[in-house]
Amino acid sequence: MPLAMIYFDNAATSWPKPPGVAAAMVDQLENAGGNPGRAGHHLSLAAANVVADARDAVARLFNAADPSRIVFTHNATHALNLALHGVLRPGDHVVTTSIEHNSVMRPLRHLERAGVEVAVVACRRDGTLDVDRVARALRSNTRLLVATHASNVSGTVLPIAELSALARSRGLVFLVDASQTAGAIPIDVAVMGVDLLAFTGHKALLGPTGTGGLYIRDGLELKALLRGGTGSESQYEVQPLFLPDAHESGTVNVTGLAGLHASVRFLLDIGIENVRAHEQMLMTRFLSAAQNVPGLRIHGPVEARARCGSVSFTLNGTTSSNVALLLDESFSVMARAGLHCAPAAHRTLGTFPTGTVRFSFSWFNTDAEVDTAARALHDIAQWVETGVIPSAIGTL
Ligand SMILES: Cc1ncc(COP(=O)(O)O)c(C=O)c1O
Repeated sequence: MPLAMIYFDNAATSWPKPPGVAAAMVDQLENAGGNPGRAGHHLSLAAANVVADARDAVARLFNAADPSRIVFTHNATHALNLALHGVLRPGDHVVTTSIEHNSVMRPLRHLERAGVEVAVVACRRDGTLDVDRVARALRSNTRLLVATHASNVSGTVLPIAELSALARSRGLVFLVDASQTAGAIPIDVAVMGVDLLAFTGHKALLGPTGTGGLYIRDGLELKALLRGGTGSESQYEVQPLFLPDAHESGTVNVTGLAGLHASVRFLLDIGIENVRAHEQMLMTRFLSAAQNVPGLRIHGPVEARARCGSVSFTLNGTTSSNVALLLDESFSVMARAGLHCAPAAHRTLGTFPTGTVRFSFSWFNTDAEVDTAARALHDIAQWVETGVIPSAIGTL
């Protein structure tokens, strides 16, 4: 009998999607297939409603009072580029952390060549951050503080409330990369004091790829990353200044947003605090079971509550890519091995350049799946120790 598939790669993209997501996308294609905001005919108006409904739902999820402050993008990378290029100018200083994804690091390194000064504050070996170190890195020309809400490698959750208080006390713009937490950890932009929040639709928000966005605090203006058609103010050759049009040039992913609306509605019905509790239960169970796997080393915080739903580990005596291959081919457990587009985070954890294996959970994973995966790791550890593995797999 084929093994049941266990999908633990939700930090890359979540699977499966909630019931209703695919149906909402098909419904949009069949019944709301116009170009939103571009015409007065009924298919265009229906498409505009799809986009507006998705925007309202996302605003509700993050407690953003004005939905027009949610700008839709293709993904978090697009949103982060919009935020970083939109705020920073030559001569500005920006402070970030050593566990950021390349979607923050690469735009910053590019901006550095254009005269922006970049300071990277080192996190501790488990990815946790000392906010005093961040305070010491600030200068008179610091304009922006950018931090991930949680590491996509170690799962470490950063102290967003403390960072926000620091940013506010120093008059800085505070940008949070919520790629790994939107949909998995409650986010309230007002309470958290976030100026800019970048999110992606296809991870814990459980929506389709090609969706994401940026929340922009009222009163904060960004330089546009793209300029073009918006369906509004078509008499002018210059970009409209009002949101969301100022940053939504070109036709948005209406089909994707129909799916995102369905997935966000699903999450609002469950309650994000319940998603968080479920993932914490899975994490606690895995961290405990992992202690019994010989040679397995967990990277990142010891306690589940200091993490999002992701955990990285290595196994003595073999490579992370081998472990992921054995998990997939022998046990049908899907995990991601390597550097996870975050070399700085791996340097912080001491796992560069070899990388780690990452398990990342979602609402749809079960405790039975965690137990099966832990048993699989136990078997793999024994194969590594004895040098005996099923011949179909090859050498370790
Ligand atoms: C922390 C973090 N930031 C940014 C991204 C980029 O997300 P996307 O590929 O949706 O642009 C990821 C994706 O893995 C991530 O984990």
